[in-house]
Amino acid sequence: MIIDPWSSELVSNSKLFEEFGMQKLEQVLLERIKKLSKAGAEELWLLDRGLLFGHRGLDLFASAVEKGEQVAVLSGIKPSNEFHLGSKLTAEELIMFQKAFRAKAFYAIADLEAIADNKLDKKQTEQYAVSNVADLLALGLDEKNAVIYRQSERVEVLKTGFIASTKVTNSMLRAIYGEKEIALYLSALIQIGDILLPQEELFGGKKHVLVPVGADQDPHIRLARDVATKLGLVQPSATYHSFTRALDGQKKMSKRNPESVLSMGESGQSLKKKLGNVFTGGRNTADEQRKLGGEIGKCVFYELCRAHFLKDGKQLEEMKEDCVSGKNLCGECKAKYGKVIVDFFDSHNQKKQKQMEKAKRIVGVD
Ligand code: TRP
Repeated sequence: MIIDPWSSELVSNSKLFEEFGMQKLEQVLLERIKKLSKAGAEELWLLDRGLLFGHRGLDLFASAVEKGEQVAVLSGIKPSNEFHLGSKLTAEELIMFQKAFRAKAFYAIADLEAIADNKLDKKQTEQYAVSNVADLLALGLDEKNAVIYRQSERVEVLKTGFIASTKVTNSMLRAIYGEKEIALYLSALIQIGDILLPQEELFGGKKHVLVPVGADQDPHIRLARDVATKLGLVQPSATYHSFTRALDGQKKMSKRNPESVLSMGESGQSLKKKLGNVFTGGRNTADEQRKLGGEIGKCVFYELCRAHFLKDGKQLEEMKEDCVSGKNLCGECKAKYGKVIVDFFDSHNQKKQKQMEKAKRIVGVD
């Protein structure tokens, strides 16, 4: 079985655990992470939402923090589109861990991967990169304790990607990714260069690095861990989040299907319309719903609030309570919490505008 990080196929969690040896992220370990955190509890709301379901080596990362070792956090983005909720989630995890462990945060702008996978030219990737970085800053990354870079500009990443190629065979790559174009295999190797960058001498050498990602990135993590061992480096750790379903309740949100996606630039009427159409867990009739309550397990609107927009746990509980008790019907619920979402987008987009110049400087374009 193969997980293809360049397709929008969903992998089941049980396969990841059983066939790929991913570890379940149990509550005890989450509590241990929370205890180690130097950030306020309100910064850690993402840890209480059941979003992070799996990990590799998070326990070893935690031990390193317990011993007072210097650690780092790292993730990345393919600058082939505007941020959608998945990229927002990854960015928020990175920011959360940066704060929690007072760790240097690395953010790879995978322009080479975007060129290989999405057939963009470099100029197009630059525009997206600027917008993506502005999102990242607006979400709260402390850029003074961060290294944000483009793959094509960072020689250590390219060098390590090359060296990684001497540690893998054709058949390994085929076994992990299936039969792919050379450019995608190269992108995978360069991503190893990203993941191992924090262990360069330049950044203080060997260390534990935590990489928050979506589960589709697991093949890269497995390969990076293997190559790290062969190079005498520390195996990077990873956390995995589950995907938010598409707005119509199907599969995962994918940048390849714009109608199913909330992007970060969303505003005004189009946003309201999309929220109005989001699939919920409503019953056939209002009467039935007042009597039986809504089916919150089916509700994408609830999922959006839980995973992305309602940071206040008490408010989320209230939303749930009012749904399953039949107190609020879906329309009422959407009116109430839709406003929170619209406000989030408005405020985010204002903050983002203010970060555009800085983002250009960081990306290195004008
Ligand atoms: N491949 C990732 C994606 O498609 C982007 C990426 C590049 C990345 N380098 C990374 C993610 C390093 C995590 C770590 O979105």
